[in-house]
Amino acid sequence: MCLRINLCLCRSVVLTVLSYSSTLMICVTCTATNLQPNIVLIMADDLGIGDVGCYGNDTIRTPNVDRLAKEGVMLTHHIAAAPLCTPSRAAFMTGRYPIRSGMDNGHRVRVLLFTGSSGGLPKNETTFAAILQKQGYSTGIIGKWHLGVNCESRSDYCHHPLSHGFDFYYGTPFTNFNHCKPGERSDILFDVQVTLRLATEALVVGLLTLLVLKWTGSIGIAWKTIVGLAAFCFLFSGAWYSVFGFLRNWNCFVMRNYEIVQQPSNSETLSTRMTEEALAFVERNQKKPFLLVMSLIHVHTPFFTRKEFIGKSKHGSYGDNVEEMDWHVGQIINAINNVGLTNKTLIYFTSDHGGSWDSVGTNGEHGGGWNGIYKGKKGLAGWEGGIRVPGIFRWPGQLPSNKKIDEPTSLMDIYPTVVKLAGASLPQDRVIDGRDLMPLLEGETHRSEHEFLFHYCGNSLNAVRWHPQDSKCSVSGNYSNIKMESHSQLV
Ligand SMILES: *[C@@H]1O[C@H](CO)[C@@H](O)[C@H](O)[C@H]1NC(C)=O
Ligand SMILES: *[C@@H]1O[C@H](CO)[C@@H](O)[C@H](O)[C@H]1NC(C)=O
Ligand SMILES: *[C@@H]1O[C@H](CO)[C@@H](O)[C@H](O)[C@H]1NC(C)=O
Repeated sequence: MCLRINLCLCRSVVLTVLSYSSTLMICVTCTATNLQPNIVLIMADDLGIGDVGCYGNDTIRTPNVDRLAKEGVMLTHHIAAAPLCTPSRAAFMTGRYPIRSGMDNGHRVRVLLFTGSSGGLPKNETTFAAILQKQGYSTGIIGKWHLGVNCESRSDYCHHPLSHGFDFYYGTPFTNFNHCKPGERSDILFDVQVTLRLATEALVVGLLTLLVLKWTGSIGIAWKTIVGLAAFCFLFSGAWYSVFGFLRNWNCFVMRNYEIVQQPSNSETLSTRMTEEALAFVERNQKKPFLLVMSLIHVHTPFFTRKEFIGKSKHGSYGDNVEEMDWHVGQIINAINNVGLTNKTLIYFTSDHGGSWDSVGTNGEHGGGWNGIYKGKKGLAGWEGGIRVPGIFRWPGQLPSNKKIDEPTSLMDIYPTVVKLAGASLPQDRVIDGRDLMPLLEGETHRSEHEFLFHYCGNSLNAVRWHPQDSKCSVSGNYSNIKMESHSQLV
């Protein structure tokens, strides 16, 4: 409310007392304090909507996330643009469906699998961070990126966070995955690895058989041929093994800006270091507006959980990990409060997509997030469980507290929302699919601007969510009195 009142006040002051430049000055300062709040966006990885206390889970403890909801606005119909990390995060960063930026596809693999690959968020996409950076914000991202690193060489950093509007980066450019934990089964193209291993074994057996036959004089094959075959066998196994056998080194590393500070990473301590970096970022930037994207590596498998949380939850190692995640969120909220920025900071909490409830951990225990009443899971876009996620905004003094909104909203809405709050305008040369959420959050309107949300799996459309803007949907001719119920639905 305050923001808008000030803006109106400003406009009338500007119109009526244009000649009194001193009044104008006061006006400009007054809006500047209410515009450009600090923005802290916290994104969990693979967290299900059913894993969070305030969304109805009464056996898992998430007091810090629940506190955000109590002090702010909770969205109960908040939708990720894709059910997988890379496309969902691309949409989040650009405010656009991932097919627009080429960050989703129709192949089997829809996320980046190798940090060394040349794919990633295209250079000509403009993230909200890039816009906020131009508006004078200090922009930092900590944690998982998963939107690529390099294009042509190992140091052009074309997809790196620092090339996409961030001044500061600390974290893993990839994601948390099984190779980061020694002893876990590989989760990258496991079937391809098995096939390659079997092929290598068959080659070796074939080669040995040839050797024996040659030795016993059963066949008259030239030594040259045998040596050639052996060389092929060696190169073949070497080639695929160098890709998959060193995945921990290739993918599990930690960067601070452009520098690799740990390879392979020590994932046991990574989350704690990330939170320390977040607190230091807040401390360093408390005097100017800042954007902090806290991209948690929790609660993606494999689980790395601080000692004090192990064995404490009612839901095994997964539950322990969720409860620890909440603790990290609490650390960040406290840091904001401690530097006196509570009312100058918009905090947002979400998950990149739904939980993967049927994942199984190494010891056969339950290993994935719970999507509550929603069917489906990570990877499936046509069902709600893969895409309906928590969405909580807290900004005391500006947004109401303890309020629930059930209108359809999207993670893509963060883009126009923060761009507007920073006092900037949206890029005009492309379609932005997100909508400014402030009028809805502040209660100025009760309708989401989204009439349709599209749910893609890869590049094929699986479902459309229709939220009729008018409950009376009239059809021409004799059927003009047909009324539709005013709730959104998947068609
Ligand atoms: C709470 O979360 C756990 C862990 O994901 C899940 O097993 C349990 O079913 C959830 N409880 C409710 C009431 O949703
Ligand atoms: C970025 O470049 C690609 C390739 O030239 C083009 O297809 C795409 O439309 C461009 N995107 C934007 C947002 O300009
Ligand atoms: C912050 O906002 C809350 C809620 O409007 C208000 O009660 C509190 O006094 C404000 N704190 C400061 C320091 O302005």
